[in-house]
Amino acid sequence: MKKHHKSIALVTGASSGIGKATAERLALDGYIVYGTSRKGAEGSSRAFEMLALDVTNGASVEAAVAQLIRREGRIDLLVNNAGFGVAPAGAEESSVEQAWAIFDTNFMGIVRMTRAVVPHMRKQGSGRIINIGSVLGFLPMPYGALYAATKHAVEGYSESLDHELRTRGIHVSVVEPAYTKTNFDANLLAADAMLDDYSATRAGLNERMAQLFAAGDEPGVVAEVVLQAATAANPKIRYTAGGLAGRLQLLRRYAPATLVDAGVRKDLRLDTTTAPMARAAS
Ligand SMILES: NC(=O)c1ccc[n+]([C@@H]2O[C@H](COP(=O)([O-])OP(=O)(O)OC[C@H]3O[C@@H](n4cnc5c(N)ncnc54)[C@H](OP(=O)(O)O)[C@@H]3O)[C@@H](O)[C@H]2O)c1
Repeated sequence: MKKHHKSIALVTGASSGIGKATAERLALDGYIVYGTSRKGAEGSSRAFEMLALDVTNGASVEAAVAQLIRREGRIDLLVNNAGFGVAPAGAEESSVEQAWAIFDTNFMGIVRMTRAVVPHMRKQGSGRIINIGSVLGFLPMPYGALYAATKHAVEGYSESLDHELRTRGIHVSVVEPAYTKTNFDANLLAADAMLDDYSATRAGLNERMAQLFAAGDEPGVVAEVVLQAATAANPKIRYTAGGLAGRLQLLRRYAPATLVDAGVRKDLRLDTTTAPMARAAS
């Protein structure tokens, strides 16, 4: 594997969790790493420097990328990691404003970062973009509809972008983790238009999701996969991260849809009598 000493990397959402682990892992591999946080330099470590950046604000994105280019003159790797979830939440329990808000960070944030960084990579004739997706980007779960929709958007955008840029020496990959032990579950937003009708389901899911996150992967598992995608001679478009994510991808690809549907419900302790055995899921 090629060493990337002095390659310049930018990792959004590096104040905690997967972003922080990724920034540290890349630094250990020899990258010069800039992490970002809405809180600015707070949280800087010896391994990497922090820039202030809010991915929902175009001016903030432009300023952070300009600052990095002023200092280093180039950017070799962009890891779009900043994101959050709204769950457990029935799809109808989120206002349209909340739907916009999650798309603004999880998807439009990637669009803003990409538009700011790609011109520099095109000029260089090289670069890597790695977007942190999720298994929910290929396997939607109930009561996480908006989050799953943002991650499906990330998948589609990334694949299109890779098609466009690969002939210019720029490669795009999506890394798809499953449950990972970070601040993600503590930072989950509750629905802003909750309905009593969902109370019992919500209580059951809160309990089940706490168990699933507690049994999740360490963020270092995802960081290792990001490094693999960043340094592969011929990077793949999709990388699952962790054992569960790999198994889910195999199931999604090869198992009958009815079986996968029932499995999702069973895993979340939801009523499986409504699995679409008789509905012939397409
Ligand atoms: N944990 C999981 O189970 C899991 C599974 C699959 C995928 N993921 C994905 O992994 C990524 C990282 O999440 P995590 O698990 O590491 O959660 P986390 O510990 O909550 O970290 C989220 C990071 O995103 C940043 N962020 C949030 N909104 C931002 C904004 N508007 N502008 C800039 N930064 C923002 C936060 O930084 P500041 O608050 O400092 O600004 C923080 O550093 C997300 O895209 C998430 O969807 C997580």
